[in-house]
Order: sequence, then C-alpha cells, then structure tokens
Amino acid sequence: MCGIVGCVLKQKNAAPILLDCISKLEYRGYDSVGIATENNKIYIKKDKGKIIDVNTNLDLADMEGQSGIAHVRWATHGDPNKLNSHPHTDEEGSIAVVHNGIIENYDQIKARLISEGHEFKSDTDTEVIPHLLKDFMNEGLSLEEAMRETVKVIHGAYAIAAVCVDEPGKVVATRKDSPLIVGIGDGEFFVASDSPAILKYTNNIIYPERDEIVTLTMDGVNITDIEGNVLDKEIETIDWTPEMAQKEGFDHFMIKEIYEESDAVRNTLTEKESIREIIDDVKDDINKIVFVACGTSYHASLTGKYLIESMSGITTEVLLASEFKYSAKTLDERTLVIFISQSGETADTLKALDVANETSKTLAIVNVAGSSATRRAKYVIQTQAGPEIGVAATKTYISQLTAIYLLAALLADNQELLDKLEKVPNYIDEILEDVEPLKIMTEKYKYTDDFFYIGRGFVYPTALEGALKLKEITYIHGEGYAAGELKHGPLALIDNCIPVVVILPPGENHRKTMSNLEEVKSRGADVIGIGAKSDEGIINKSKDYFLINDEVDDIIAPLVYIIPLQLMSYYIAVEKNFDPDKPKNLAKCVTVE
Ligand code: F6R
Repeated sequence: MCGIVGCVLKQKNAAPILLDCISKLEYRGYDSVGIATENNKIYIKKDKGKIIDVNTNLDLADMEGQSGIAHVRWATHGDPNKLNSHPHTDEEGSIAVVHNGIIENYDQIKARLISEGHEFKSDTDTEVIPHLLKDFMNEGLSLEEAMRETVKVIHGAYAIAAVCVDEPGKVVATRKDSPLIVGIGDGEFFVASDSPAILKYTNNIIYPERDEIVTLTMDGVNITDIEGNVLDKEIETIDWTPEMAQKEGFDHFMIKEIYEESDAVRNTLTEKESIREIIDDVKDDINKIVFVACGTSYHASLTGKYLIESMSGITTEVLLASEFKYSAKTLDERTLVIFISQSGETADTLKALDVANETSKTLAIVNVAGSSATRRAKYVIQTQAGPEIGVAATKTYISQLTAIYLLAALLADNQELLDKLEKVPNYIDEILEDVEPLKIMTEKYKYTDDFFYIGRGFVYPTALEGALKLKEITYIHGEGYAAGELKHGPLALIDNCIPVVVILPPGENHRKTMSNLEEVKSRGADVIGIGAKSDEGIINKSKDYFLINDEVDDIIAPLVYIIPLQLMSYYIAVEKNFDPDKPKNLAKCVTVE
C-alpha cells in the first residue's frame, strides 16, 4: 500500500532525507514514487517505477527547501504512471499533497470542483485534496485550517501530508483509518506511514488519532483536534533500532527474518505475565472465543482454535475479517473477540474490530506498537518480532503463534505446554544451523506448476500457511489441505506432476497421516516428507524429505515445522530470480477493504 513521509529540517535540505525515508517504506509494495520540496516554490519529481530507477532520473540536487513530502504509490484509482504518481497539486502548483488510502466520495467532489472551473490532470482520487485545500485557503484560511475543513468534506480512509508556498517551512498532515506517526528529532520533525521510515533520525514518536491535524514547523510539532484545540500528546519511545530494519549481510529481508524467528519466539515468550493478567481479567466472563484475521494471521488464528478447543473446551471460531460482518450478530458480551494482525492497520480487521467493540470484549495481538488496532482494542498483546520488512510474513507469524500458544496454555493452566514452549527457539535454531540440504532439495522444484501441502490436526493450518508462502513469493500454485480431506475430491488431481508436501510430526495423527502419504505416493505424486528424525526409516520412501528433532511433538509442531516450508518457498523464489521481499501485486500493510 502507499507510504507517505513529510519532514521539516532546521539544518538540512529535505530532498535527500525524504528519499532516504521513503526508501524505507518500499517494503509496503508500490509502483511509483514522488517527492516535493518547498522553497518559495514547489519542486516536484515523480515517476512510475522503483525508487532505484526513478532516483537516477530524479536528480535531487536542484530540489531546494528544508521541508517537503514524499510518497510511494500502490495504484488504486488510475494506472500506475507519472501523471497519477503523487505528489498532486492544485492548478497553480502552490500546494502539493501526498495521500495514502482512498477518498470514497472523490467523484462527487471532483464533479463539483469541475463545475466550478477546476481542471484536473490525473485519474486519482487524491487530486481533489490540493484543489479543496486551495479553495479553503482562497477564503482566507491557513493551511492547517484548510486541512481541517477538507477532512470534513472527504469520506474514506486517508493519511495526508501537504506543503504550500504561502506557508514556507511547514508540513500539515492528518489521518483517518490509515496509519500516520509523528517523529520528534533534534531540530528535525517528521510524519510517516510507519516507523522504519524515520528510525534513523528519531525513535520519539507521537501517534495522532483520527482527524487530528499535525503541523510540523522549524520550531517543532503542533497537534490540534478537529475543533482547532491544541492537544498535549504523549511522546512514546520505541525500542526498534535502524539496524533492525537493515538486511545486515543477508541477501533478502525474508531470509534475515526467518533467521530471526527463534528470537521472535524467545522475545514474545516474555509477554507471558501480561497475557496472564488479561486472562485473569476475562476468564470468568467469557463462554466463547472468536478469532478475526486475514491471510497469514488467519492461519495463526486457526492454530489457536485447535489449541483452545482441545485444551480448554471453550468454543472457538475463526473468521476472515473481510467476511466478519455476516457473523457479527452471534457475538455478545460473553464473547472474547481476538484480532490478530502483524501491522495492526489492516482495514478489514480494523472494520471488524470497531463492530466487535460494540458488543464484546476485544483483544488485539499485534506486532506494531501504537498501530490502530492497539489503540482500538480493549486488551493488547504486543508480539516481539521487531520490524518485519519482507512482505511475506514469517517472523511475525511465528510470534503471533507464540502469543496464541501462551494464551491457550495459560487459559488451560497447562504447565507442560508452557515448558515445551521454552524449548522451541532451540528447535528452530537447530533447523537453521544447516539449511544447505533443504536448499538443494528445493531448488529443483522451480519449474513445478502446482504443489499440495497436507497435514492433520494442529499442523493442518501449517499446511495452509506453507501453501500461502509458496503462492506469494514463487507465484507457483500451492494448495493446503487437511490430510484426511484429500480423498474427498482433490485426490483426482494427484499425479506425477504434483509434489505433495506431507507434514508428519510425531503424535496421535502420525499413523493416519502416514496412510495419506502412501495414498498420494501410490497415485504417483512426488512426496516431500517433513517429519521427525527417528522416522527417517519410513520417510525416506518419499522422493525428498527433511527431518526435525524428535522432541517436537504435534502440539508444538506448528511453531517449528513451518520453518522448512518458509525456507522452501524462499529458495524456489530465489532460484526463479524473483525478489522474495517484494512479491508482485502484494503490500505489507493492506489499508483498503
Ligand atoms: C502473508 C501476509 C498477509 C497478511 C494479511 C494480514 O504473508 O503477510 O496474508 O497476513 O494481509 O495482515 P496483518 O497481519 O498485518 O493484518
């Protein structure tokens, strides 16, 4: 999704710093890039393409000014081309605007403005904003006041930042349902869609609420509410460092983040006591749990259902956030609704959270501190994965699972599971110590068109997640199935062109899953077995196999068996020369419904 940055710098030129900041938001997924600075006139450079390509044509040297805005665009309204790239301006080019989100009523506003004589250059929804700002400023309002009036006119989701020649050295910004943070540095003031953009310059952050107006000047930051009252906002210090958002010698963020998964588990396990407090608070008042999430977070939630229902007997449902509204009437005050989201900004999830807040207790399990979900849910569990830059979720998934395991184990008072969790980081490290055989085994599948992933019980969601990772970064079709369900239809597809990844941890489902392995093998499939070391004698009947520590039984297998599946997708993507960090058409933070 789009990313925005704005800055006012006391001592430095804005253009190179804006470019540096916006390049840290590349991970969000984008097709165009643009920068505007202000120094008695507005300087704009923008184009379709990746920052690295556009940058060579941008020639920032002649962009004057110590204040400015920047944007990476993920096209929603209008093709990805230079004209539709942000920043957009009014007709005179005196105001420049960047915007993340969607202005739902832009067509009515645009029609009205055109009837009043305005001329538009792009197909975007965003372009109405500089025109509205200009009209309000023509009535005598300041840029800040004009922004306040503009948000009363526009509907939808937005984070907006603007500069204007008539108000030099200033950036005015606002947000509603799209992320925006404010960074307070030493004589350097920022707004940005996400903290990695500005971590190099400051980790003192303010989180503006919806329709609050942020004004950056050389003197500092002023935040006002929709009535114009000055707000005294808390400055929070985040403990993420700029290094955490660097590749640090790895070829890609994705592989670096896979190697950080044992730490993601270790660090999230430290949340145990705060999770215990939440459980103590709700336990006696709930008779049902509903998880709500999208994508990978949905798969983590499914594991939660297996854990909670099998250990506590509490009815647990899992809903896709985008389908949530059809089930909303089944919630009541005795339902705990748990929202899982690495970004905390997913529009579908936030919409569902607002609805659930009306009837039920809500809990958000989120990786990004200060994100919208953390501010809207009644209870919050912060996963401790650190910043995840690769678009495909890996370490945030494992940290979500860790939080869910803690929740489930504490709900059931299951000390044995809590003890097992402590060992998980070591099992992950053992896998990562020697990945070469897995790499060699996997690379040969780069010409394969379809894969199946099968697992039973706790590792059925692992099969779904393995298949999703494959689709996302290799563009190979992968389908996750409950191992016992294959014979009810998809078995018809199995032949020697379709490898089947069989997830086979030790435990009560082992024998049955083994039969499913034989079932697909006898239909000619190339079986890739992922199982326990002591099973080598039976798994070696597979075409390929990968072995994991025997102590990893089926209950904790989701936290460990996913690692080889993530690695397999990564190695295939690299072998196919795809960038696993930036899969086509996908975005890290999905702020549209
Ligand atoms: C997959 C992936 C997506 C997200 C989904 C929800 O690798 O990252 O499927 O899991 O878009 O995002 P969050 O967790 O930010 O709500």
